[in-house]
Amino acid sequence: MVQTIAQAASLRGTVSLPADKSISHRSAILSALGDGRSRVYNFPNSADPQSTLDCVRTLGVEAGRTDEGVLAIHGRGLGGLHPPSEPLDCGNSGTTMRLLSGVMAGQEFGSVLTGDESLQQRPMERIADPLQAMGARIDLRSGHAPIRIRPQRRDGLQPLEYRLPVASAQVKSCVLLAGLYASGRTVVIETTPSRDHTERMLGLEVQEVGGERHIIVEEDHTVPAVDWSVPGDFSGAAFFLVAGTLVPDSELHLDDVGLNPSRTALLDVLDGMGANITVENERVQGSEPVGDITVRSASLSGIDIGGPLIPNLIDEIPVIAVAAACAAGRTEIRDAEELRVKETDRLHAMAQNLKALGADVQEREDGLIIDGNGPNLLGAAVQSHDDHRIAMAMGVAGLVAHGTTTIADAECARVSYPGFWDELSRVSGS
Ligand code: S3P
Repeated sequence: MVQTIAQAASLRGTVSLPADKSISHRSAILSALGDGRSRVYNFPNSADPQSTLDCVRTLGVEAGRTDEGVLAIHGRGLGGLHPPSEPLDCGNSGTTMRLLSGVMAGQEFGSVLTGDESLQQRPMERIADPLQAMGARIDLRSGHAPIRIRPQRRDGLQPLEYRLPVASAQVKSCVLLAGLYASGRTVVIETTPSRDHTERMLGLEVQEVGGERHIIVEEDHTVPAVDWSVPGDFSGAAFFLVAGTLVPDSELHLDDVGLNPSRTALLDVLDGMGANITVENERVQGSEPVGDITVRSASLSGIDIGGPLIPNLIDEIPVIAVAAACAAGRTEIRDAEELRVKETDRLHAMAQNLKALGADVQEREDGLIIDGNGPNLLGAAVQSHDDHRIAMAMGVAGLVAHGTTTIADAECARVSYPGFWDELSRVSGS
Protein backbone atom coordinates (compact mmCIF):
# COMPACT_ATOMS: atom_id res chain seq x y z
CA MET A 1 0.00 0.00 0.00
CA VAL A 2 1.28 3.45 -0.92
CA GLN A 3 0.19 6.11 1.55
CA THR A 4 -0.13 9.68 0.30
CA ILE A 5 0.25 12.47 2.84
CA ALA A 6 -0.53 16.11 2.08
CA GLN A 7 0.94 19.06 3.93
CA ALA A 8 -1.38 19.86 6.88
CA ALA A 9 -2.57 23.33 7.93
CA SER A 10 -3.27 22.27 11.52
CA LEU A 11 -3.79 19.16 13.69
CA ARG A 12 -6.65 19.06 16.19
CA GLY A 13 -8.38 16.49 18.38
CA THR A 14 -7.81 13.56 20.70
CA VAL A 15 -5.60 10.81 19.34
CA SER A 16 -6.56 7.18 19.83
CA LEU A 17 -3.42 5.23 20.73
CA PRO A 18 -2.72 1.50 20.53
CA ALA A 19 -1.78 -0.30 23.73
CA ASP A 20 1.90 -0.37 24.60
CA LYS A 21 3.70 -2.99 22.53
CA SER A 22 6.41 -3.84 25.08
CA ILE A 23 3.96 -4.28 27.95
CA SER A 24 1.55 -6.27 25.77
CA HIS A 25 4.21 -8.84 24.84
CA ARG A 26 5.14 -9.27 28.47
CA SER A 27 1.52 -9.50 29.63
CA ALA A 28 0.92 -12.39 27.20
CA ILE A 29 4.09 -14.26 28.15
CA LEU A 30 3.73 -13.79 31.91
CA SER A 31 0.04 -14.70 31.77
CA ALA A 32 0.94 -17.90 29.90
CA LEU A 33 3.44 -18.77 32.65
CA GLY A 34 1.08 -17.81 35.46
CA ASP A 35 -0.78 -20.27 37.62
CA GLY A 36 -4.40 -19.87 36.49
CA ARG A 37 -6.42 -17.37 34.51
CA SER A 38 -5.08 -13.87 33.90
CA ARG A 39 -6.95 -11.08 32.16
CA VAL A 40 -5.36 -8.45 29.98
CA TYR A 41 -7.33 -5.24 29.55
CA ASN A 42 -6.60 -3.29 26.36
CA PHE A 43 -4.52 -5.99 24.65
CA PRO A 44 -3.96 -4.58 21.14
CA ASN A 45 -4.58 -6.01 17.67
CA SER A 46 -1.15 -4.80 16.56
CA ALA A 47 0.71 -7.47 14.61
CA ASP A 48 3.70 -7.82 16.97
CA PRO A 49 1.79 -8.55 20.22
CA GLN A 50 -0.48 -10.83 18.18
CA SER A 51 2.64 -12.79 17.15
CA THR A 52 3.42 -13.35 20.83
CA LEU A 53 -0.15 -14.40 21.50
CA ASP A 54 -0.09 -16.85 18.58
CA CYS A 55 3.17 -18.34 19.89
CA VAL A 56 1.83 -18.91 23.40
CA ARG A 57 -1.25 -20.55 21.86
CA THR A 58 1.08 -22.84 19.91
CA LEU A 59 2.52 -23.78 23.32
CA GLY A 60 -0.88 -25.02 24.44
CA VAL A 61 -2.09 -21.89 26.22
CA GLU A 62 -5.78 -21.06 25.79
CA ALA A 63 -6.46 -17.38 25.18
CA GLY A 64 -9.53 -15.56 23.90
CA ARG A 65 -11.43 -12.30 24.11
CA THR A 66 -14.43 -12.01 26.42
CA ASP A 67 -17.59 -10.25 25.19
CA GLU A 68 -16.17 -7.04 26.67
CA GLY A 69 -13.01 -7.42 24.57
CA VAL A 70 -10.79 -8.34 27.52
CA LEU A 71 -8.19 -10.99 26.73
CA ALA A 72 -8.44 -14.00 29.06
CA ILE A 73 -5.31 -16.16 29.15
CA HIS A 74 -5.30 -19.50 30.93
CA GLY A 75 -1.79 -19.78 32.29
CA ARG A 76 -0.24 -23.24 32.50
CA GLY A 77 2.37 -22.48 35.16
CA LEU A 78 6.12 -22.46 34.62
CA GLY A 79 6.23 -26.19 33.88
CA GLY A 80 2.95 -26.60 32.01
CA LEU A 81 3.63 -25.46 28.44
CA HIS A 82 3.07 -28.02 25.68
CA PRO A 83 5.70 -28.98 23.09
CA PRO A 84 4.89 -26.96 19.97
CA SER A 85 3.78 -28.97 16.94
CA GLU A 86 5.27 -26.39 14.58
CA PRO A 87 7.94 -23.67 14.67
CA LEU A 88 7.04 -20.63 16.77
CA ASP A 89 6.49 -17.89 14.18
CA CYS A 90 7.52 -14.57 15.69
CA GLY A 91 6.63 -12.63 12.53
CA ASN A 92 8.42 -9.26 12.52
CA SER A 93 8.81 -9.15 16.29
CA GLY A 94 12.26 -9.16 17.88
CA THR A 95 10.69 -8.89 21.33
CA THR A 96 8.65 -12.07 20.77
CA MET A 97 11.68 -14.00 19.59
CA ARG A 98 14.14 -12.84 22.23
CA LEU A 99 11.83 -13.06 25.22
CA LEU A 100 10.32 -16.40 24.24
CA SER A 101 13.79 -17.86 23.63
CA GLY A 102 14.48 -17.28 27.32
CA VAL A 103 11.36 -19.25 28.21
CA MET A 104 12.00 -22.00 25.66
CA ALA A 105 15.58 -22.47 26.91
CA GLY A 106 14.14 -23.77 30.19
CA GLN A 107 11.73 -26.32 28.72
CA GLU A 108 12.19 -30.07 28.72
CA PHE A 109 11.03 -30.12 25.10
CA GLY A 110 12.66 -28.70 22.00
CA SER A 111 11.45 -25.79 19.90
CA VAL A 112 12.27 -23.72 16.83
CA LEU A 113 11.69 -19.96 16.71
CA THR A 114 11.51 -18.27 13.35
CA GLY A 115 10.24 -15.06 11.82
CA ASP A 116 9.95 -12.97 8.68
CA GLU A 117 12.81 -11.96 6.39
CA SER A 118 13.69 -8.91 8.49
CA LEU A 119 13.70 -10.82 11.78
CA GLN A 120 15.87 -13.55 10.26
CA GLN A 121 18.56 -10.94 9.64
CA ARG A 122 18.66 -9.55 13.17
CA PRO A 123 21.44 -10.54 15.60
CA MET A 124 20.59 -13.43 17.92
CA GLU A 125 24.03 -14.30 19.40
CA ARG A 126 23.26 -11.64 21.97
CA ILE A 127 20.68 -14.00 23.47
CA ALA A 128 22.30 -17.32 22.52
CA ASP A 129 25.52 -16.42 24.40
CA PRO A 130 24.01 -15.93 27.87
CA LEU A 131 21.52 -18.77 27.39
CA GLN A 132 24.36 -21.14 26.45
CA ALA A 133 26.26 -19.94 29.52
CA MET A 134 23.23 -21.11 31.51
CA GLY A 135 23.54 -24.54 29.90
CA ALA A 136 20.87 -24.15 27.24
CA ARG A 137 21.47 -25.97 23.99
CA ILE A 138 20.83 -23.53 21.19
CA ASP A 139 21.77 -23.48 17.51
CA LEU A 140 21.55 -20.41 15.31
CA ARG A 141 21.98 -20.13 11.56
CA SER A 142 25.05 -17.91 11.12
CA GLY A 143 24.11 -15.91 14.20
CA HIS A 144 20.48 -15.55 13.16
CA ALA A 145 17.07 -17.16 13.36
CA PRO A 146 15.73 -19.80 12.91
CA ILE A 147 16.74 -20.55 16.50
CA ARG A 148 16.76 -24.25 17.42
CA ILE A 149 16.53 -25.02 21.12
CA ARG A 150 17.02 -28.60 22.27
CA PRO A 151 15.22 -30.03 25.32
CA GLN A 152 16.64 -28.92 28.65
CA ARG A 153 17.86 -31.50 31.16
CA ARG A 154 15.57 -32.18 34.11
CA ASP A 155 17.86 -30.43 36.61
CA GLY A 156 17.16 -27.09 34.87
CA LEU A 157 19.35 -24.23 33.72
CA GLN A 158 22.33 -23.03 35.69
CA PRO A 159 22.02 -19.62 37.33
CA LEU A 160 24.07 -16.83 35.80
CA GLU A 161 25.45 -13.45 36.76
CA TYR A 162 25.39 -11.58 33.48
CA ARG A 163 26.64 -8.08 32.74
CA LEU A 164 24.84 -6.96 29.58
CA PRO A 165 27.34 -6.15 26.82
CA VAL A 166 24.66 -4.19 24.95
CA ALA A 167 21.97 -2.00 26.54
CA SER A 168 18.97 -4.07 25.48
CA ALA A 169 15.73 -4.70 27.35
CA GLN A 170 15.12 -7.67 25.09
CA VAL A 171 18.37 -9.39 26.07
CA LYS A 172 17.86 -8.48 29.72
CA SER A 173 14.34 -9.89 29.66
CA CYS A 174 15.43 -13.06 27.87
CA VAL A 175 17.96 -13.84 30.62
CA LEU A 176 15.52 -12.93 33.40
CA LEU A 177 12.86 -15.24 31.94
CA ALA A 178 15.40 -18.05 31.60
CA GLY A 179 16.32 -17.31 35.21
CA LEU A 180 12.84 -18.49 36.22
CA TYR A 181 14.03 -21.97 35.16
CA ALA A 182 17.47 -21.83 36.82
CA SER A 183 18.54 -23.78 39.87
CA GLY A 184 19.79 -20.76 41.78
CA ARG A 185 19.85 -16.98 41.73
CA THR A 186 20.27 -15.23 38.37
CA VAL A 187 21.50 -11.63 38.29
CA VAL A 188 21.45 -9.39 35.23
CA ILE A 189 23.67 -6.33 35.53
CA GLU A 190 22.91 -3.24 33.51
CA THR A 191 25.52 -0.52 33.16
CA THR A 192 23.12 1.58 31.06
CA PRO A 193 19.45 1.32 32.02
CA SER A 194 16.96 0.04 29.46
CA ARG A 195 13.17 -0.19 29.72
CA ASP A 196 12.26 -1.93 32.96
CA HIS A 197 8.81 -3.45 32.25
CA THR A 198 9.94 -7.05 32.83
CA GLU A 199 11.35 -6.45 36.28
CA ARG A 200 8.32 -4.35 37.23
CA MET A 201 5.80 -6.90 35.98
CA LEU A 202 7.61 -9.85 37.55
CA GLY A 203 8.11 -7.88 40.78
CA LEU A 204 11.86 -8.58 40.79
CA GLU A 205 14.34 -7.15 43.24
CA VAL A 206 16.52 -4.41 41.75
CA GLN A 207 19.64 -3.17 43.54
CA GLU A 208 21.62 -0.07 42.61
CA VAL A 209 25.28 -1.04 43.02
CA GLY A 210 28.02 1.47 42.16
CA GLY A 211 25.95 3.11 39.42
CA GLU A 212 24.82 -0.22 37.95
CA ARG A 213 21.45 -1.93 38.19
CA HIS A 214 21.43 -5.51 39.46
CA ILE A 215 18.17 -7.29 38.63
CA ILE A 216 17.67 -10.50 40.56
CA VAL A 217 15.57 -13.61 39.89
CA GLU A 218 15.52 -16.06 42.79
CA GLU A 219 15.29 -19.79 42.15
CA ASP A 220 11.80 -20.15 43.58
CA HIS A 221 10.26 -17.10 41.89
CA THR A 222 6.72 -17.93 40.81
CA VAL A 223 4.54 -16.14 38.29
CA PRO A 224 1.08 -15.44 39.68
CA ALA A 225 -2.07 -15.09 37.57
CA VAL A 226 -2.75 -11.34 37.45
CA ASP A 227 -5.09 -8.86 35.79
CA TRP A 228 -2.98 -6.62 33.57
CA SER A 229 -4.07 -3.29 32.13
CA VAL A 230 -1.96 -2.09 29.22
CA PRO A 231 -1.54 1.71 28.91
CA GLY A 232 -1.36 3.64 25.63
CA ASP A 233 1.93 3.26 23.81
CA PHE A 234 4.30 6.16 24.48
CA SER A 235 6.29 5.14 21.39
CA GLY A 236 3.10 5.45 19.30
CA ALA A 237 2.30 8.78 20.98
CA ALA A 238 5.77 10.01 19.93
CA PHE A 239 4.66 10.44 16.31
CA PHE A 240 1.82 12.74 17.35
CA LEU A 241 3.97 14.63 19.86
CA VAL A 242 6.33 15.55 17.04
CA ALA A 243 3.54 16.12 14.49
CA GLY A 244 1.56 18.36 16.89
CA THR A 245 4.74 20.35 17.55
CA LEU A 246 5.74 20.81 13.91
CA VAL A 247 2.40 21.50 12.22
CA PRO A 248 1.34 25.11 12.87
CA ASP A 249 -1.86 25.95 14.73
CA SER A 250 -2.10 22.47 16.32
CA GLU A 251 -3.40 21.13 19.60
CA LEU A 252 -3.57 17.38 20.20
CA HIS A 253 -4.60 15.43 23.31
CA LEU A 254 -3.34 11.94 24.11
CA ASP A 255 -4.97 10.22 27.08
CA ASP A 256 -3.87 7.23 29.22
CA VAL A 257 -0.34 7.21 27.84
CA GLY A 258 2.31 5.02 29.49
CA LEU A 259 4.87 7.28 31.17
CA ASN A 260 7.39 4.77 32.46
CA PRO A 261 10.50 6.91 33.08
CA SER A 262 12.66 4.36 31.25
CA ARG A 263 10.70 5.26 28.09
CA THR A 264 9.98 8.99 28.18
CA ALA A 265 13.32 10.71 27.43
CA LEU A 266 11.67 12.02 24.26
CA LEU A 267 9.72 14.45 26.45
CA ASP A 268 12.98 15.90 27.78
CA VAL A 269 14.51 16.06 24.31
CA LEU A 270 11.48 17.85 22.84
CA ASP A 271 11.41 20.16 25.84
CA GLY A 272 15.10 20.95 25.28
CA MET A 273 14.30 21.71 21.62
CA GLY A 274 11.56 24.17 22.64
CA ALA A 275 8.36 22.10 22.37
CA ASN A 276 5.12 22.97 24.17
CA ILE A 277 4.00 19.71 25.81
CA THR A 278 2.15 19.31 29.10
CA VAL A 279 1.55 16.14 31.09
CA GLU A 280 -1.43 16.00 33.44
CA ASN A 281 -3.34 13.58 35.61
CA GLU A 282 -0.30 11.41 36.35
CA ARG A 283 -1.30 8.19 38.08
CA VAL A 284 -0.23 4.57 38.47
CA GLN A 285 -2.01 1.77 36.60
CA GLY A 286 -0.88 -1.65 37.80
CA SER A 287 2.91 -1.52 37.81
CA GLU A 288 3.16 1.36 35.33
CA PRO A 289 2.81 5.17 35.53
CA VAL A 290 0.37 6.76 33.04
CA GLY A 291 -0.88 10.27 32.29
CA ASP A 292 -2.59 12.52 29.76
CA ILE A 293 -0.53 14.61 27.35
CA THR A 294 -1.33 17.79 25.41
CA VAL A 295 0.92 19.04 22.64
CA ARG A 296 0.70 22.44 20.94
CA SER A 297 2.69 23.82 18.02
CA ALA A 298 6.11 25.29 18.74
CA SER A 299 9.32 26.24 16.93
CA LEU A 300 12.23 23.91 17.63
CA SER A 301 15.99 24.31 17.84
CA GLY A 302 18.59 21.61 17.29
CA ILE A 303 19.96 19.51 20.15
CA ASP A 304 22.69 16.93 20.93
CA ILE A 305 21.57 13.43 21.90
CA GLY A 306 23.82 10.55 22.97
CA GLY A 307 25.18 8.40 25.79
CA PRO A 308 22.93 6.69 28.34
CA LEU A 309 19.87 8.55 27.02
CA ILE A 310 19.83 6.46 23.84
CA PRO A 311 18.20 3.23 25.13
CA ASN A 312 15.44 5.36 26.68
CA LEU A 313 14.45 6.82 23.31
CA ILE A 314 15.76 4.14 20.97
CA ASP A 315 12.42 3.67 19.17
CA GLU A 316 11.77 7.41 18.95
CA ILE A 317 14.95 8.32 17.04
CA PRO A 318 13.35 8.10 13.57
CA VAL A 319 10.74 10.69 14.51
CA ILE A 320 13.32 12.78 16.42
CA ALA A 321 15.22 12.93 13.12
CA VAL A 322 12.10 14.43 11.51
CA ALA A 323 11.84 17.00 14.30
CA ALA A 324 15.54 17.81 13.83
CA ALA A 325 15.11 18.31 10.08
CA CYS A 326 12.45 20.97 10.82
CA ALA A 327 14.33 22.63 13.70
CA ALA A 328 16.61 25.65 13.51
CA GLY A 329 20.27 24.63 13.71
CA ARG A 330 22.19 21.38 14.07
CA THR A 331 21.09 18.19 15.81
CA GLU A 332 23.65 15.50 16.46
CA ILE A 333 22.52 11.96 17.38
CA ARG A 334 25.40 9.79 18.67
CA ASP A 335 25.86 6.32 20.23
CA ALA A 336 22.82 5.00 18.36
CA GLU A 337 24.47 2.19 16.34
CA GLU A 338 21.79 -0.21 17.69
CA LEU A 339 19.43 1.40 15.18
CA ARG A 340 21.31 -0.40 12.42
CA VAL A 341 20.00 -3.78 13.67
CA LYS A 342 16.33 -2.92 14.16
CA GLU A 343 13.56 -3.96 11.73
CA THR A 344 15.70 -2.21 9.13
CA ASP A 345 18.87 -0.10 9.34
CA ARG A 346 17.01 2.89 10.72
CA LEU A 347 19.94 5.33 10.50
CA HIS A 348 20.34 4.64 6.81
CA ALA A 349 16.61 4.57 6.09
CA MET A 350 15.98 7.92 7.81
CA ALA A 351 19.02 9.55 6.20
CA GLN A 352 17.87 8.44 2.73
CA ASN A 353 14.25 9.41 3.25
CA LEU A 354 14.93 12.81 4.79
CA LYS A 355 17.43 13.61 2.03
CA ALA A 356 14.71 12.76 -0.50
CA LEU A 357 12.62 15.52 1.14
CA GLY A 358 15.51 17.96 0.81
CA ALA A 359 16.87 17.78 4.37
CA ASP A 360 20.56 18.22 5.12
CA VAL A 361 21.51 14.91 6.78
CA GLN A 362 24.89 13.25 7.25
CA GLU A 363 24.94 9.59 8.17
CA ARG A 364 27.56 8.56 10.75
CA GLU A 365 28.37 5.01 11.88
CA ASP A 366 26.60 5.59 15.20
CA GLY A 367 24.14 8.34 14.38
CA LEU A 368 23.05 11.27 12.27
CA ILE A 369 24.00 14.91 11.93
CA ILE A 370 21.03 16.96 10.79
CA ASP A 371 21.20 20.62 9.89
CA GLY A 372 17.59 21.67 10.24
CA ASN A 373 16.24 24.14 7.75
CA GLY A 374 12.94 25.07 9.36
CA PRO A 375 9.75 24.35 7.47
CA ASN A 376 11.44 23.79 4.12
CA LEU A 377 10.97 20.11 3.41
CA LEU A 378 9.55 19.26 0.00
CA GLY A 379 7.19 16.32 -0.53
CA ALA A 380 8.74 13.31 -2.31
CA ALA A 381 8.39 9.55 -2.75
CA VAL A 382 9.98 7.63 0.16
CA GLN A 383 10.31 4.01 1.30
CA SER A 384 9.18 2.45 4.57
CA HIS A 385 11.75 -0.38 4.20
CA ASP A 386 8.90 -2.46 5.69
CA ASP A 387 9.68 -0.88 9.04
CA HIS A 388 6.70 0.47 11.00
CA ARG A 389 8.60 3.26 12.70
CA ILE A 390 10.19 4.47 9.46
CA ALA A 391 6.77 4.52 7.76
CA MET A 392 5.15 6.50 10.61
CA ALA A 393 8.08 8.92 11.01
CA MET A 394 7.85 9.70 7.30
CA GLY A 395 4.09 10.17 7.68
CA VAL A 396 4.88 12.94 10.17
CA ALA A 397 7.45 14.43 7.78
CA GLY A 398 4.78 14.37 5.05
CA LEU A 399 2.49 16.56 7.16
CA VAL A 400 5.08 19.34 7.21
CA ALA A 401 6.61 18.96 3.75
CA HIS A 402 5.30 21.23 0.98
CA GLY A 403 3.10 19.39 -1.51
CA THR A 404 2.53 15.67 -1.10
CA THR A 405 4.68 12.79 0.13
CA THR A 406 4.13 9.16 -0.77
CA ILE A 407 5.27 6.32 1.50
CA ALA A 408 5.68 2.90 -0.11
CA ASP A 409 4.72 -0.25 1.84
CA ALA A 410 3.05 1.87 4.51
CA GLU A 411 0.82 -0.96 5.77
CA CYS A 412 3.71 -2.09 8.01
CA ALA A 413 2.48 0.52 10.55
CA ARG A 414 0.12 -2.26 11.70
CA VAL A 415 3.07 -3.92 13.46
CA SER A 416 2.66 -1.49 16.37
CA TYR A 417 -0.13 0.95 15.41
CA PRO A 418 -2.91 -0.52 13.25
CA GLY A 419 -5.05 2.65 13.06
CA PHE A 420 -2.16 5.06 12.49
CA TRP A 421 -2.97 6.33 8.99
CA ASP A 422 -6.64 6.85 9.87
CA GLU A 423 -5.70 8.79 13.01
CA LEU A 424 -3.26 10.94 11.07
CA SER A 425 -5.85 11.88 8.45
CA ARG A 426 -8.57 12.38 11.09
CA VAL A 427 -6.59 14.86 13.19
CA SER A 428 -5.38 16.68 10.08
CA GLY A 429 -8.95 16.95 8.79
CA SER A 430 -7.94 15.53 5.42
C1 S3P B 1 11.86 -3.61 23.37
C2 S3P B 1 13.14 -3.22 23.53
C3 S3P B 1 13.89 -2.42 22.55
C4 S3P B 1 12.97 -1.75 21.55
C5 S3P B 1 11.91 -2.67 21.05
C6 S3P B 1 11.06 -3.22 22.18
C7 S3P B 1 11.21 -4.42 24.41
O1 S3P B 1 14.79 -3.26 21.86
O2 S3P B 1 13.72 -1.22 20.47
O3 S3P B 1 11.05 -2.00 20.12
O4 S3P B 1 9.97 -4.51 24.44
O5 S3P B 1 11.94 -4.97 25.25
P1 S3P B 1 16.24 -3.60 22.47
O6 S3P B 1 16.01 -4.09 23.82
O7 S3P B 1 16.84 -4.68 21.62
O8 S3P B 1 17.00 -2.34 22.39
